[in-house]
Amino acid sequence: MLTIDQLRAETPGCNIKIHFNNAGAALMPKPVIDAQLNYLAHEALTGGYEAADERAGEIAGFYTSMALLLGCAPRNIAFTSSATNSFARAISCVPFKAGDSILIANEDYISNQIQFLSLEKRLRIRLLRADSLPEGGVDVNSMCQLMDIHKPRLVSLTHVPTNSGLVQPVEEVGKLCNERGILYLVDGCQSAGQLAVDMKAIGCDFFTATFRKFLRGPRGAGFLFVSDRVLNQELWPLYIDMRGADWVEKDRFVPRPDARRFEDWEFNYALVTGSRAAADYALKVGLKAIEQRNVLLCQLVREGLKEMGLKILDKGQKQSSIIVVAIAGKEPEVVLKSLRARNINTSISSRSSALIDYDAKGVTWGLRISPHYYNTEEEVALLLRALGEILYIG
Ligand SMILES: Cc1ncc(COP(=O)(O)O)c(C=O)c1O
Repeated sequence: MLTIDQLRAETPGCNIKIHFNNAGAALMPKPVIDAQLNYLAHEALTGGYEAADERAGEIAGFYTSMALLLGCAPRNIAFTSSATNSFARAISCVPFKAGDSILIANEDYISNQIQFLSLEKRLRIRLLRADSLPEGGVDVNSMCQLMDIHKPRLVSLTHVPTNSGLVQPVEEVGKLCNERGILYLVDGCQSAGQLAVDMKAIGCDFFTATFRKFLRGPRGAGFLFVSDRVLNQELWPLYIDMRGADWVEKDRFVPRPDARRFEDWEFNYALVTGSRAAADYALKVGLKAIEQRNVLLCQLVREGLKEMGLKILDKGQKQSSIIVVAIAGKEPEVVLKSLRARNINTSISSRSSALIDYDAKGVTWGLRISPHYYNTEEEVALLLRALGEILYIG
């Protein structure tokens, strides 16, 4: 791993901010910033289509870098504009019929829950949620039972939920899905770049994520992994376009053989090059090293918060780099802004984005602190001191 000093020297934002909002959008390192600026400059001087032709090799490198990051082949990768966009494209290829069911977890991401509720209304499918364990996280036995009773057409699970501080057992659930031949969609938006993720080990058909969070890539960029099992079936996104398919006869089109059948024809190639640089950077730093450093930093934050007498809302056997703490007697905006006034970035996680989880915990909001490997122990100390001042001094 690069030293902390090297990592921070390559992260211009570190000179200005104490950034604990990596679950929102992380600070980009220089190679990610430079890749985009260089591409834009080239595009401005050359022409959009011409620059894309000249840089075809670099653009193709996006797919090979992502394949290395995820343990799959370049043919399994599609570039998208966000995790939610990837998710919608993935579920749009499943031929749901009235009466089908979809199995998910209580802790799954808000937009996934809304998309499934929308499908439920439109197509009269049934949305099933597995029980949660008392200690937090999905109950894999409940998932297994519901799979056997209802034979769902799709199982979906959020790997690292946005608010509950936990890591879900995506591999165990993947094994159950594979044994039963059920399509399996994993939302890895908060796990990509935070944990080592391997598509074969997870055994998923789709894996959706965004670049701006723990991958430290640009905003407006996401990706979708699609398994060979899906590519080899007659499954394509409902609104497939001329990138995804060839129009071969008046009334017939043929989808591309690879995951790029899930892409739009038009996208921002500066973002593609920035995203590639983010994948390469994560590989250079090393996912195992990132994971280990994050565990250490999060332990410091969690211990510090507990020593201050604050209640951490995180549950689950395995915890993530997302820490949510309850703050009684203060308005969320006041806490957020008071920290920002001290140059410290965090975020607010409110009940509306975690309805089931927060109702079970009896809270309406929490302060979300999400460290990443380039944060320092000194920054953790400054954050804790600032919180102490805001909460106990005013
Ligand atoms: C777990 C999870 N999934 C999906 C998303 C959505 O990502 P995007 O805004 O890129 O669509 C988020 C965003 O916070 C998330 O935390």
